This record gives sequence, C-alpha cells and structure tokens, in this order.
Amino acid sequence: MKKIAIFCSGFGSNLQAVITAVEKGKIKAKISVVVSDQIDSYALVRAKKAGIPILYVDPQAYKDRQSYERVVVNALREKKVDFVVLAGFMRILTPYFIRQFKDKIINIHPALLPSFKGIHGITDALEYGVKITGVTVHFIDDKPDNGPIIFQGVVTIRPEDNEETLAKRIHRLEHRLYPEAIRLLVKGKLILKGRKVEIKK
Ligand code: GRF
Repeated sequence: MKKIAIFCSGFGSNLQAVITAVEKGKIKAKISVVVSDQIDSYALVRAKKAGIPILYVDPQAYKDRQSYERVVVNALREKKVDFVVLAGFMRILTPYFIRQFKDKIINIHPALLPSFKGIHGITDALEYGVKITGVTVHFIDDKPDNGPIIFQGVVTIRPEDNEETLAKRIHRLEHRLYPEAIRLLVKGKLILKGRKVEIKK
C-alpha cells in the first residue's frame, strides 16, 4: 500500500476529508504522517484523533528553508513516504524539496488556476468580480500554483455572496475533489505528459 504524508498549516478540513476517505476504504493508501509548521494547527488535533503520527518542525529553529526541509525530508524517507499531499500548507517548498519528491507532490488551490494564484484565491476572485471561480488540484513544480492540473471544479459566484458563503461552497467542492484525486494518484492513474495530466481508465 502506498504511503502518503499530508502537510497542513491550519484548520485541516481537507485533511479530514482525506482521513475519512481512507477510513471508508475509498483511498487505498496509508497516511503515514501529518506534517505541520504550526504547533497550534487544528489539523494536528484531527491527526491525533485519527491515530495518525504527527510531525511538527518549527521553521524558526533553522537558518534557512532548506535546512528546515532537510529535517522533514529525512523523516519522510524514514517512513518511506511515496507521495506528499499539500492541504493548506502555507510555506513555499524549495526546489530542493521538490526534487526529492519529483512529480509526487500535489496541492489544492481555491481558485481556477492560472487565475488568482497566491494565498487569497477566494477573496481575490470575489473582489475581481468574476462570475465563476472554483478549485484546482495540481502537481507541484518549481513555481508556486503553476504545476500540471489534475482536476478543476467550478463554483458559480452569486450576487449575494460574501467571502464566507463563497468559501463554504469552495471548501465543499474541495472535500470532494481532493480525495478523488488522491485515490487516482495512489493507484498510479495520473500520468504526467509535459504540462498535461492524463487520467487512466
Ligand atoms: C484550502 O482552501 C486549500 O485550497 C488551500 O488552503 C485551504 C486549506 O483549508 N490551499 P483546510 O486547512 O483544509 O481547511
């Protein structure tokens, strides 16, 4: 069975969706560790409740990003982790980390990439006035919010929407799309062809 590490910095609702999908047998993989850079992240509470090992490493304790990442990489290697799933992890990974898990890191972004990159994808779409936004699941490459796209899902923006109501619908969609993407990933069904991702039957 493939082993995955899930990286979170915050609330961990996507983590929860993945945990549930694993528990229900929809994703046939083991969550070997939940990694966080925030000691007070609720994601860590969720991991503990589910009996999943956690790894908190304080980035402040290291002189640069790569030395921090080296500690994390070593821990993942020890656990023989196959895939890294980013779920609200608020740090940009360096090319060093990305090389260690080449084409094996995925992310979820709360907008339709390449629009509204960055950490305010939901608010930025709302403020821009687009009529549709959504969710993107993608592989990580060396530029933030840039890698090959696995799935996208659309959320229509309603005239009465505010950040909270829109975020709610975006998250609901995320919780469906991310487990499904991970299910396919661990089954080896996602084939990278340059910038494109082919989904095998
Ligand atoms: C999600 O909206 C995801 O798209 C973004 O960070 C958020 C994490 O939310 N990358 P949660 O911690 O999973 O609730």
